[in-house]
Amino acid sequence: MNKLKHVAIIMDGNGRWARAKGYPRTQGHLVGTDNVRNIAIAANDEGIEVLTVFAFSTENWKRSKDEIDYLMKLPFVFFDKFMKELMERNIKITMIGEMEDIPKDTAKIFNKAMEQTSKNTGMILNFAMNYGSRFEIVRAFNKFLDEYKNDNSLELTEDNFNNYLYTKDFPEVDLMIRTSGEQRISNFLLWQLAYSELIFVQEAWPEFTPESFKKCLDEFKKRDRRFGGVK
Ligand code: IPE
Ligand code: IPE
Ligand code: MG
Repeated sequence: MNKLKHVAIIMDGNGRWARAKGYPRTQGHLVGTDNVRNIAIAANDEGIEVLTVFAFSTENWKRSKDEIDYLMKLPFVFFDKFMKELMERNIKITMIGEMEDIPKDTAKIFNKAMEQTSKNTGMILNFAMNYGSRFEIVRAFNKFLDEYKNDNSLELTEDNFNNYLYTKDFPEVDLMIRTSGEQRISNFLLWQLAYSELIFVQEAWPEFTPESFKKCLDEFKKRDRRFGGVK
């Protein structure tokens, strides 16, 4: 049976889910925020080490100011509502992405949550916030170049490249799930997904239940992972 340490999710379909119900798109984001809690708890119960959730991409700045403002307020709602539960369940909050470019108060609420949960030893709930994988890769290369300027004996290798990525402290992504029927990666973890199993489900993120999540885990366990080898 395949080991499962790190699950990454593209939480997609909030807007379409809301529209189909006659609500504004923002309602989908709000219900989707509650669902981060539901799926995080399910993942924690399953013994997963890291759950990375794609919350805002570097391309999402293309959306209306109103929608962006709303999305940037959601971390307040999330931590207000669920911090107590996260602490009870020993869940640790981390983030990947460019923090400098998000509103100061949003960055602050994340920093507070990271600080508050920093000693927790259970599952890591990792938010990809203002995250773009191409940027991450270019940033990694520039970080390497900075070091190289001081020591030109350094070599960039497949193994040490990982140390320059936001995800350097996390295990390999075993499984990536995308909701809402779209079958693309949308600039998420391009390097990290090289040998991940991919599952695309029809449900929109707000209606993706812990039961559906568990079905994905069951499907993952049955997959034949060969990593280029032969079994
Ligand atoms: C995912 O849902 C949330 C974010 C990208 C922030 P969408 O907002 O992309 O919803 P759809 O895909 O338009 O339905
Ligand atoms: C990916 O969803 C980003 C997040 C879920 C945060 P998008 O809705 O932005 O992706 P595209 O535009 O459909 O590829
Ligand atoms: Mg979308």
